[in-house]
Amino acid sequence: MPLQSRVQNPILHPLLFIFQVIQFVLDKLLSPTPPSPKARLGRPRIAVIGGGITGVTSAAHCIGHGCDVQIFEAGKEENIGGIWSRVNNTSSLQIHSLMYRFHPSVNWQQGYPDKHQILSQVRQLWKRYRLDERTVFETPVTSARQDPETKKWTINDDAETHGQFDGIICAIGTCGEPKVPHMPGMDSFQGEIHHSSQLTGKAAKGKTLIIIGGGASAVESLEFAVEEGAAQVYVLARSEKWIIPRNPVVNMLLALNIFGQETWFSWIPEFFLRKLFYRELEDIAPPSDKKGLFTDTPMVNSEVMNQIRSGKVKWLRCDIEGFAENGVKINRRKKGTNPNDQGQTEEIGGDMVVMATGYERPKLDFLPKECLEGDYKPPNWYLQTFPPQFPSVSAINCTYMNGIGSVGNWHIGIYTRLLLVFLLDDRTRPYPFWMKRWIDMTSLLKERSPVGPFEFFTYLELMWWFFFCIAINPFRWKWAFFVFFGLGEYLPMKVVAAEDRLRNRLQAREAEEQGTMVNGVHHVREEDIRGRTMRIVT
Ligand SMILES: Cc1cc2nc3c(=O)[nH]c(=O)nc-3n(C[C@H](O)[C@H](O)[C@H](O)COP(=O)(O)OP(=O)(O)OC[C@H]3O[C@@H](n4cnc5c(N)ncnc54)[C@H](O)[C@@H]3O)c2cc1C
Ligand SMILES: NC(=O)c1ccc[n+]([C@@H]2O[C@H](COP(=O)([O-])OP(=O)(O)OC[C@H]3O[C@@H](n4cnc5c(N)ncnc54)[C@H](OP(=O)(O)O)[C@@H]3O)[C@@H](O)[C@H]2O)c1
Repeated sequence: MPLQSRVQNPILHPLLFIFQVIQFVLDKLLSPTPPSPKARLGRPRIAVIGGGITGVTSAAHCIGHGCDVQIFEAGKEENIGGIWSRVNNTSSLQIHSLMYRFHPSVNWQQGYPDKHQILSQVRQLWKRYRLDERTVFETPVTSARQDPETKKWTINDDAETHGQFDGIICAIGTCGEPKVPHMPGMDSFQGEIHHSSQLTGKAAKGKTLIIIGGGASAVESLEFAVEEGAAQVYVLARSEKWIIPRNPVVNMLLALNIFGQETWFSWIPEFFLRKLFYRELEDIAPPSDKKGLFTDTPMVNSEVMNQIRSGKVKWLRCDIEGFAENGVKINRRKKGTNPNDQGQTEEIGGDMVVMATGYERPKLDFLPKECLEGDYKPPNWYLQTFPPQFPSVSAINCTYMNGIGSVGNWHIGIYTRLLLVFLLDDRTRPYPFWMKRWIDMTSLLKERSPVGPFEFFTYLELMWWFFFCIAINPFRWKWAFFVFFGLGEYLPMKVVAAEDRLRNRLQAREAEEQGTMVNGVHHVREEDIRGRTMRIVT
């Protein structure tokens, strides 16, 4: 099993060479300047909860724009990189790394990097932006409270140790502890049982492996089994999910469905997938009347089809009835049936069972409870990440349920910069009333979606949300370039200062006219402006 990544020489691979040149240019153009060692960072001060790719990336953006940050990570230092630090050595990206450039400075050396390359990129980013000096480990966040007067946030009720914060980025991910449901007879099984994330070092050669689950981890476990020389592999899938080819063009085309839901035209990609990709294996594709392509995160893998065709892997639609001494008892069902419908009882013999049954979802219950109750609870938040009651909170990549695109992409920077803009420029800040109306509007637009309006989205739909958010409020226009590309924050800051001066003059004149001018109004506003800085003061 390789512990070191296999890196290709870009000179020998022209496409890879072009990819590297593009990455070099993007880094030079779009990466914010890392802080110098003696940098004193300005406001807003942001608490970032979670040290995975989302937390590290958003913190790097904040600090790169001169804002102070503190990362709170529940795990140890070795867990920087989040879920990637806790999976198998053989785990790798399923989606092309072109869509996993979580920060402009990321430099991929191959199309489908493995765990080690991903972790190394996250750690480089963490160090480059001096986030190692601003991370506390083994500090799970259990509460985040906002002072109703000052609007400052306190983490874990400990302002003395951590100080106070103007905003919060929740980056706790969607994959927490491995989920291993207890099944009848499990204790009597004579073979080994492992969760899909704990396969490093496990011997599979010549064995029959039974994989329970039909998601991305099941596919990854299947690849592990084949690579390790397993004699036979069974995948026991309770419900069908779409599998799409590992082809960046196909993946990007699917992510371009701007409606973010099933449409009249969804049959077109489904038809081509069935005829050109599944072909004679159409039986394992979800029936179109049950699960459309734009309702659930598809699995991105081409190899699985080849393995099923070779007969080495058998993909069975079934419910698990329990474990036997030498295998697993299943209720095998026909296509079109639902879980627990009447099927045929069978026993599948095996030496090792892999529980590819997913992960527990980390909870956002440290946030004020009004964010998590009623009609506007995650994922039904403004732009899916801002709780309508608190525009100073952005929960990036941890409220989503399903989608086509990629978790580690451009949007992490966009969401982070939107939060900074809301904090820096109060005229851009959305009102709870309008945030809720946006959620209502999107729900109406997606009324016909078979899943909830925010339970599935595509990447282009996400871009439309951002575009709408900027376009709807003229005070946000000046920030557009900054929000989308992270460039040119100085000009809007100057405009904000000019707007404030104008507002103060008008207020002062109004007060003078009314004979109620309060001494120092002007002075206070100027101070206010100076307090909002995105520059690093060295
Ligand atoms: C094997 C595997 C392969 C994957 N491949 C892809 C892929 O190809 N494409 C893709 O888009 N996605 C993929 N994913 C999904 C993956 O979850 C995301 O890509 C991404 O790594 C998520 O990063 P994150 O920082 O948002 O969350 P995580 O990596 O889960 O990090 C969250 C961090 O927050 C910490 N934390 C949680 N709660 C608290 C708390 N209360 N206080 C303090 N800290 C806390 C955790 O300890 C963790 O370190 C894959 C996932 C797995 C498991
Ligand atoms: N390289 C990659 O891209 C990659 C690799 C691994 C994981 N991931 C990501 O990580 C996340 C988690 O993926 P995952 O595959 O680990 O989890 P998952 O998507 O939640 O899939 C879990 C699977 O286990 C099944 N299952 C759960 N409990 C079961 C039970 N009691 N009996 C029978 N079947 C049961 C589920 O069936 P139901 O669907 O019927 O509930 C589902 O098929 C996803 O976001 C995924 O995209 C990505």
